[in-house]
Amino acid sequence: MSITPVPRTAVIVVAAGSGSRLGAGAPKAFVGIDEHTILRHALDGVLAAPTAQVVVVVPEDRVGEALTDADSAAGDRRDLMTIVAGGETRQKSVMAGLAAVWPDVDVVLVHDAARALTPPDVFARVIDAVRGGASGVVPVLPVIDTIKRVDADEIVAAVDRSELAAAQTPQGFPRRILDDSYRGVAQEYTDDAALVAAAGHRIVTVPGDASAFKITTPADLERARGLITPRHTDPDRVAAGLPRVGIGTDVHAFGGDGDLWLGGLRWADEQALSGHSDGDAIAHAIVDALLAAAGLGDIGTHFGTDRPEYAGAHAEAFLRRTRSLLREAGWEVGNVSVQVQANRPRFSARRLEAEAVMSAALGGASVSLSATTTDGLGFTGRGDGVSAFAVALVFPI
Ligand code: CTP
Ligand code: MG
Repeated sequence: MSITPVPRTAVIVVAAGSGSRLGAGAPKAFVGIDEHTILRHALDGVLAAPTAQVVVVVPEDRVGEALTDADSAAGDRRDLMTIVAGGETRQKSVMAGLAAVWPDVDVVLVHDAARALTPPDVFARVIDAVRGGASGVVPVLPVIDTIKRVDADEIVAAVDRSELAAAQTPQGFPRRILDDSYRGVAQEYTDDAALVAAAGHRIVTVPGDASAFKITTPADLERARGLITPRHTDPDRVAAGLPRVGIGTDVHAFGGDGDLWLGGLRWADEQALSGHSDGDAIAHAIVDALLAAAGLGDIGTHFGTDRPEYAGAHAEAFLRRTRSLLREAGWEVGNVSVQVQANRPRFSARRLEAEAVMSAALGGASVSLSATTTDGLGFTGRGDGVSAFAVALVFPI
């Protein structure tokens, strides 16, 4: 059994504000960006950073909701999470978080949940700088706008932009320095770096990140929504939750030896199809559709002519093996719809039988087979061969 070492770093995620400027009718951290809250996104970022104790500070009446977000974000790392109730000001909330930091921790980062899309490497940069000896570290961005000092509506001075930087979070400190600075605090500061600087410590900067902007106004929330990849276009998220479809087609010419095999059935007294295996175009189209849906290549990838065990094999063997390949990759067959274009054989009398054979080989998934002719047109109309088209749905298991 492996014993996970207790982390030496803690991240206090302050999420106890009311979000009055956002005005979304709920405390800001509990407002949704997509299907997940601001807090949940912030925690995802923290958990993707180097391992740390995570202290989440929330309004007293939201502790239950925060537990749900923390559980779903942390998964089997739930033990790293501590949830505490915050205070009336951000500073009081940080203080409440500090009181819950584990004894072995020697570096503490303080992070605004409102900076929900902060990339993990910002955390890593801050931690490295503190561990490298800094007494306080702030991620910053250069100021882009020209800044003026004003008095009411009058500009009284230009400010040299090169002297300015926009401060972000997470801000990091040796635990002892942060504890001591907070213990002696007599007034409100705008951020932790200002408070620690007022206690006499030198603060240094590391590069911040534009995505670490603070969600403050409705426009900021819109910006965050635009930056998050929609669930249905992000391959990782799709694989993690949504079903997928695939398409497959196959064509075989008449002219093989022996009996005709099509749709998993043997057809006595019908002309055989030619092919490396039995030429069962219906089964092969289904295999391609299933493999495509699961993103596992195509029939040639798994059943190529270099696989002698599939020479002469019938639909059942192909479909069974395809289902195992899918299951090994985390997919189950949802359903399959397949259509064959052929003058012969006539499927009407044996359609249900073919569906049952193929369904059984796919673990009982529904297989719908339809058959059509092409009004005498094309190679199927001339009776040269058959073609089949399949669509398959698979879902993650
Ligand atoms: N915060 C906190 N406790 C407070 C006030 C703020 O934990 N009493 C947290 C917020 O949840 C936020 C971060 O501090 O993650 C930065 O504060 P801010 O962006 O100002 O958030 P709110 O105070 O919630 O928003 P507003 O000022 O618009 O009400
Ligand atoms: Mg505030």
